[in-house]
Amino acid sequence: MSEDSIIIRGRRELNGEVRISSSKNAAVALIPATVLASDIVTLYDVPRISDIIALRELLGELNIHLTRDGDSLIVDPRDIQNTVLESDAVGRLRASYYFMGALLGRYKKVKMKMPGGCDLGPRPINLHLKGFRALGAEITYEEGFYTLEAPELKGTDIYLDFASVGATINIMMAAVFAKGRTIIENAAKEPEIIDLSTMLNKMGAQIRGAGTSVITIDGVERLGGCHHEIIPDRIEAGTYIIIGAACAGHIKVTNVIPKHLEALLMKLEEMGVKMEVGVDCVDIYKSDELKAVDAKTLTFPGLATDLQQPLTALMTKAVGVSHIRDTIYPERFKHCDQLNRMGAAIEVYNGSSTINGPTPLFGEKVRATDLRGGASLVVAALMAKGETVISDAYHIFRGYDSIREKLRGLGADID
Ligand code: EPU
Repeated sequence: MSEDSIIIRGRRELNGEVRISSSKNAAVALIPATVLASDIVTLYDVPRISDIIALRELLGELNIHLTRDGDSLIVDPRDIQNTVLESDAVGRLRASYYFMGALLGRYKKVKMKMPGGCDLGPRPINLHLKGFRALGAEITYEEGFYTLEAPELKGTDIYLDFASVGATINIMMAAVFAKGRTIIENAAKEPEIIDLSTMLNKMGAQIRGAGTSVITIDGVERLGGCHHEIIPDRIEAGTYIIIGAACAGHIKVTNVIPKHLEALLMKLEEMGVKMEVGVDCVDIYKSDELKAVDAKTLTFPGLATDLQQPLTALMTKAVGVSHIRDTIYPERFKHCDQLNRMGAAIEVYNGSSTINGPTPLFGEKVRATDLRGGASLVVAALMAKGETVISDAYHIFRGYDSIREKLRGLGADID
């Protein structure tokens, strides 16, 4: 067995409580945003995932001091010395591109490689660049490096052709020090954007409208430090809720904001999953037969594309033919071949999958092709008869804090 594999012996009934960690996709924006501060920023409850390790390396490259104190991360950006990011860590995650907005915003220049992240099909950054240009940046791309420079940044109106999470966050960060007012129209509304706006406003920014499709940023002169507690991870929560729907006797998922998961919870209800939704927790009980349903991923508050893959694994258990269309990443279906190796009957065509159920799953050697694809294999392996070996599990550790320990705590047989 490679150290990078997860082995699961499935068909165990899972019971107990699992606490959700704080949001990966919020944390990976909040950490680069500390570059904007002139004083110390303390982030509480930072998840223990490998994407955060990569970001710590990037902060190190800029000479930003970091201390882990239990679950907190104390970031001291006062001795920053550099605006160039050229280490391999840039290519290890998508969110390294948030240093573009943050360094451009604060220092008016940045040079960095192309960001990495999961292979979900084409992931252009044209909307980020369009926003930076509109604020006044000159952008060149040479020998694998982007260079962004602006004598000064000026507030302006920016319309996003698509409500991109990354572009919205990057433009917000670039605009906090721009002269005058920036308005982002057709902004993304994801909760992680509200979390970033909350933190930047605590630091002294003037941002209104985060969580709606129009965000207004009035430029300020300086941002100070702050203390900030990151929101819970809605995708990790959704994944454990799906695991509960697949394998629970009774699982309680805690540290959840149910409002962030409404589309998933309603879809699961339609499938016949027995659940009780509390103020900050969800209880999932053993269900009788699950029904096939149709689902479509959309921007928030629609069903998250990041949950499409774990949900597909659950759908193999439903009676009838389910369909999922991914409108955000129409090529995000690499997990389906792997699920089929385990006994699923899934066809993929033109941005959609058709899941013919129910199909009992059996243990197999499979490969995590990306983060949430890996999560879908974990769901499948927990349902499957026999032993499943999931290789390339490093994808999974990028976004699921202590997944082996959390699943073991629920009674899963996992190494
Ligand atoms: N898009 C463009 N041009 C751009 C930016 C995006 O065409 O300049 C397109 C993309 O190709 C895609 C769609 O817009 O088809 C959505 O992309 P978006 O920018 O919203 O996604 P992202 O910021 O790259 C974040 C999350 C993803 C999540 C998506 C959608 C982070 C670090 N990543 O990516 O999370 O799937 O939003 O919600 O926040 C994951 O956690 O597994 C993950 C991939």
